[in-house]
Amino acid sequence: MAQTFAQLSDPHLSDLGGVQASQLLSKRLLSYLSWRRKRRFEHRREVLDALAEDLAGANLDQLLITGDLTHTGLPEEFRQAQQWLRQLGPADRVAVTPGNHDALVKDDPQQTFALWRDYMAPDPGRETGFPSLRQRGELAFIGLSSALPTPPLMASGKVDGTQLRALAELLEETRGRFRVVYVHHSPVQGVEKWRKALRNADAVAKVLSTHGAELVLHGHGHRARLDQLPGRDGDIPVIAVPSASAMGLYGADVAAYNRYRVERDDRGWQVTVERRQLSADRKGFEPVGEDRLALPRSD
Ligand SMILES: [Fe+2]
Ligand SMILES: [Fe+2]
Repeated sequence: MAQTFAQLSDPHLSDLGGVQASQLLSKRLLSYLSWRRKRRFEHRREVLDALAEDLAGANLDQLLITGDLTHTGLPEEFRQAQQWLRQLGPADRVAVTPGNHDALVKDDPQQTFALWRDYMAPDPGRETGFPSLRQRGELAFIGLSSALPTPPLMASGKVDGTQLRALAELLEETRGRFRVVYVHHSPVQGVEKWRKALRNADAVAKVLSTHGAELVLHGHGHRARLDQLPGRDGDIPVIAVPSASAMGLYGADVAAYNRYRVERDDRGWQVTVERRQLSADRKGFEPVGEDRLALPRSD
């Protein structure tokens, strides 16, 4: 039986209209100024509303959201994002991992990440925090967090050693299933400039290569791309989507997201990737391409 899921990323959905520049300190101030100057024109709520409508009838096993839901990670922005998540679906069907913008400044977690707790949670009975495992039939979704506070003008990330050790165990535990690892930053070296990159991409890639995964999904770059990592059972596709709210005004890709359909057969996994993009009239999303992947099954 086929199963389905989708990935969207970098909605940057919060509205900072009520925020005064004087309320913000250093790192947040720079992001706020960037929002006033450019980002509020590029990242549009009406685009996200069109995307939500496009997802409404999809009946997915899981929707993965790979970070940067906010611009500066203020408590008010976490509240706005929580409302938006509730519109998208119940927490057991929508899985979130944070991005660098959500962790810009260390803040009271009760006012920020606690509001998304249910959406970041693993299956009941498992330890909370990342990596976060959700199993749905033959699909195993493993979320990693690469978000951490960084100095001004930096947008780098890191997956800490505790997560990497647990990731190795989860990949082994879920061997034989279709393992989807989702994270904000790409684990492929050289995808981003050093100030935006995953600092320990090599270490993350090594765990993935050693223990295997069927798919790695990320965001952060605001553009679609496909890379590969060598894997234990074959090459692992590493796929990124653009920002889910993007008008495509400043050279970035226009808003798009990917839908996946996975089916097991004698040879392994048959995967269909459907790319859905904001239409030219900006009123809805439409399919703009479909790829088929045949992936080996781990034993
Ligand atoms: Fe982003
Ligand atoms: Fe990012």
